[in-house]
Amino acid sequence: MLVTKQSLLRRFWYPVMPVAHLTDGPKPFRLLGVDIVLWMTADGTPAAIADRCCHRTAKLSRGYCEAGRIVCGYHGWQYDRSGAVVRVPQVGEGRDHRSAMRTPAFNAAERYGYVWVALGDPLFAIPEFEEAASPSYRKIDQFYDVWQCAGLRLMENSFDMAHIAFVHRDTFGDAGSPKPAAFTITKTADGFVMESEVPVVNRDLQKEVLGISDDTTVRSSQAIWYIPFLRKTRIKYPTGLVHSIVTAATPIDDARSQIVQFCFRNDTESETSTADVIRFDNAVVEEDKYILEGTDYDVPLDYRGIEASMASDRPGLLIREMLRDLLAAHDEPEATNHRAKGDDAMPLSH
Ligand code: FES
Ligand SMILES: [Fe+2]
Repeated sequence: MLVTKQSLLRRFWYPVMPVAHLTDGPKPFRLLGVDIVLWMTADGTPAAIADRCCHRTAKLSRGYCEAGRIVCGYHGWQYDRSGAVVRVPQVGEGRDHRSAMRTPAFNAAERYGYVWVALGDPLFAIPEFEEAASPSYRKIDQFYDVWQCAGLRLMENSFDMAHIAFVHRDTFGDAGSPKPAAFTITKTADGFVMESEVPVVNRDLQKEVLGISDDTTVRSSQAIWYIPFLRKTRIKYPTGLVHSIVTAATPIDDARSQIVQFCFRNDTESETSTADVIRFDNAVVEEDKYILEGTDYDVPLDYRGIEASMASDRPGLLIREMLRDLLAAHDEPEATNHRAKGDDAMPLSH
């Protein structure tokens, strides 16, 4: 699937940037291959419009904000959040420019400390995370990085029990126990919930972060996939500690994803410092990143004859199946560089 050619993907909310990045002016972002500019309006809500002035195509992100509007840095035309030109300083006040001059505008909202954008009419709401509403939990912002891989690769990796023993052999995996843990999956309206009990190795840093001194422990995991590129993994340890990780692989273009990760924990800063929580998760995430950046970004939704599979791949195959079904329900074919499917189909080079 080539995400930039799949118009249905424009109809989802994606977290694109920490809202704090907008305190010193407008910022650019590329979402599904579309260049947008984000800024903070006068009422304290973020706005997103195309990053291209309708006058002489200057990037609006190279302008500035004034009274909640964005001002083009080239000749000073001003836009509101609807994308309408509301002031042309060379003409002066009192003239209505709205009918003729505008640039496309997109849905923008703030949740969980991030700006979320949907380029088209959203099919689903931004997910509610129960931990955000609970005083028992603190939120830790963890990562905001660009990865050279498709969002689908990261999504299926999150639900892939077989990779732990290999990719994470230096952190919490056990290379001597390659048999993946069992799991159950329940479909939801916008994804699925997967539950499992995962035995893990408890090495030194993890012992510190978990407050567990044993050399092994068990993660009771409830992992939720939100179609297409968002997941939450809620891990509960035998001590009652809950570490709930939200990871988005926001699609920048076909080959790159903006990784946004934050977590909720029901312990305190004095029990485990923010720096240690980030340090441990970073070690794990870097292991995934190294492998995933070596995978093909054109993930075939119809994988037959292109990728071989095993039983533990079922969650990833369900992700592809549910995306295929959603595309079919909207009469949209899969956009891909792979040749027509069949037993002898092979990926084209690209
Ligand atoms: S290019 Fe933006 S005002 Fe001229
Ligand atoms: Fe992993």
